[in-house]
Amino acid sequence: MAVRRIIKMGHPHLRNVAEPVAPELIGSDDLSSLIEDMVDTLHDYGGIGLAAPQIDVPLRLAIIEIPGGPSRYGDIDAMPLTTFINPTIEVIDPATAGYWEGCLSVPGLRGFVQRPQHVRIRYTTVTGEDAELTLQGFWATVFQHEFDHLDGVLYVDRIEDKTKLVFEEEFAKYWQEPLGAN
Ligand code: NI
Repeated sequence: MAVRRIIKMGHPHLRNVAEPVAPELIGSDDLSSLIEDMVDTLHDYGGIGLAAPQIDVPLRLAIIEIPGGPSRYGDIDAMPLTTFINPTIEVIDPATAGYWEGCLSVPGLRGFVQRPQHVRIRYTTVTGEDAELTLQGFWATVFQHEFDHLDGVLYVDRIEDKTKLVFEEEFAKYWQEPLGAN
């Protein structure tokens, strides 16, 4: 167990396309301890998702844990801590909606990003099984954000209106809606 250092925007490795996790690695002690470190790191930094490239490990692997209830994203459903190995995304409906996103690799900033709100993901579980999930709304956005990291893409790349890339302090002051507002 260890908290790893999260690399930040400007580190060239964040821009690389990560390699698939090899089948023989799935279920191994090496992969288990990597995932444990990712969980420790996510909890230490405080976030809802972490992709392996963010701790400078070039593998297609991400963890997501969404605490439910009222949040700066509105009232959202919880998702228990889950590991996604070699995930893919299929857009079911291209209609988009926007959320203010943040990223542990882009500390101190928030940006408004529009993404499809109905997607299907396919992935391998930690025990090596194929799985799929259909996601809507905020969850769809979270998964697209995390999986973008596996392709070297950051949310700032997807901000169309650059006036909506702001510091957290200004976000709270000028942009944030009261909790519970739609
Ligand atoms: Ni991120």
